[in-house]
Amino acid sequence: MRFPLGINLGKSKVTPLESAAEDYLGSFRLLQNCGNYFVVNVSSPNTPGLRSLQDADQLDRILGLLQQENAGQKPLLVKIAPDLDEGAIADILALCQTHHLAGIIATNTTVQRDRLHTQRLATTGKLLTEEAGGISGAPLRQRSTEIIRLIYQKTSGTLPIIGVGGIFTAEDAWEKITAGASLVQVYTGWFYEGPWMVRRILDGLAQKLEAHGLSHIERAIGQNT
Ligand SMILES: Cc1cc2nc3c(=O)[nH]c(=O)nc-3n(C[C@H](O)[C@H](O)[C@H](O)COP(=O)(O)O)c2cc1C
Repeated sequence: MRFPLGINLGKSKVTPLESAAEDYLGSFRLLQNCGNYFVVNVSSPNTPGLRSLQDADQLDRILGLLQQENAGQKPLLVKIAPDLDEGAIADILALCQTHHLAGIIATNTTVQRDRLHTQRLATTGKLLTEEAGGISGAPLRQRSTEIIRLIYQKTSGTLPIIGVGGIFTAEDAWEKITAGASLVQVYTGWFYEGPWMVRRILDGLAQKLEAHGLSHIERAIGQNT
């Protein structure tokens, strides 16, 4: 069986932000023939300054260069942070249209700490607000679903959305799909639950379809928007 391979491109830490577009282009040129689709990651909080590339002018340049090189060969998507405001998301959606992107991945990890039960880390004694890095998993779930719903509404469901953020169960996947996601991804859930999580999610989704009288998962997309 052949599986599609997606390749996620992020700027190298040592490349200055002014040269970001050329860095993405260099990576794309090297990997162009290896992947079935490509994702422009401008939303990781772990590379200093990377998220500033979500700014419309910067992203416009990156997407312009990549699509020129790509010449319509491979689907190109952009992956966004959950911490953007509505205006910034609208700007990115406009760029998705201008540059004929195949879709958007929502979302990367969050830098917000407000939904956490743990406020201080026992191991370091430090407040979590003082720690660097992004939060994934359960504390992110709701925010990422809200972003998916917003994108689906703003694009009237015309832009494919890959939903990611806090999916552990079929219920979580269903929430993302009915908010507007055409596909879902898992990262943290995989660590906590292991590979059988996928089986449980698929079985659960099949039951959901039956319970809602739907013949195909496609019919569930955006049903709760
Ligand atoms: C340890 C770790 C490393 C990650 N590395 C990347 C990365 O290199 N590129 C990227 O786009 N997202 C990266 N992510 C974000 C995940 O792909 C995902 O968008 C996010 O964690 C939310 O999904 P989850 O709650 O299922 O983990 C990383 C997340 C974690 C926890």
